[in-house]
Amino acid sequence: MTRYALKVNGQSRTVDVDDDTPLLYVLRNDLGLHGPKYGCGLGQCGACTVHIEGQAARSCITPIGTVGWRAVTTLEGLGSSARPAKIQQAFIDKQALQCGYCCNGMIMTSAALLANKPKPTEEEVKAALAGNLRRCGTYQRICDAVLHAAQD
Ligand code: FES
Ligand code: FES
Repeated sequence: MTRYALKVNGQSRTVDVDDDTPLLYVLRNDLGLHGPKYGCGLGQCGACTVHIEGQAARSCITPIGTVGWRAVTTLEGLGSSARPAKIQQAFIDKQALQCGYCCNGMIMTSAALLANKPKPTEEEVKAALAGNLRRCGTYQRICDAVLHAAQD
């Protein structure tokens, strides 16, 4: 066990875990942040996506020992039910949520895209989300929600 000091959603947090513990496990099991989801556990589906220093990262394959003091943001750090972020509200407005498996990854990946490119084309949205697996029928609505969030 090693003690790690982390910066998560703007707050200092301390955990005692093994060095190879995935960041996803720390967020969910030690810090009670259930926005990031366990999907494949292999870096292939995107369900566990968080931001590390503003970049989308797959927390299931990010050992806690590699995170350091870099800022980690989870879905909870974007907004809340009472005060959703613009991208979260857009997913609600466009009814882009169905089973929920992909939603965290879609929203976190979209938020990182919009932070770097505030006015993406539909093709750029689709390219950014291409690595996020989904199993429901809301893909076009997800793209519409991202484009909606990009509007002024
Ligand atoms: S759970 Fe991390 S990419 Fe699938
Ligand atoms: S809402 Fe079911 S996979 Fe995306």
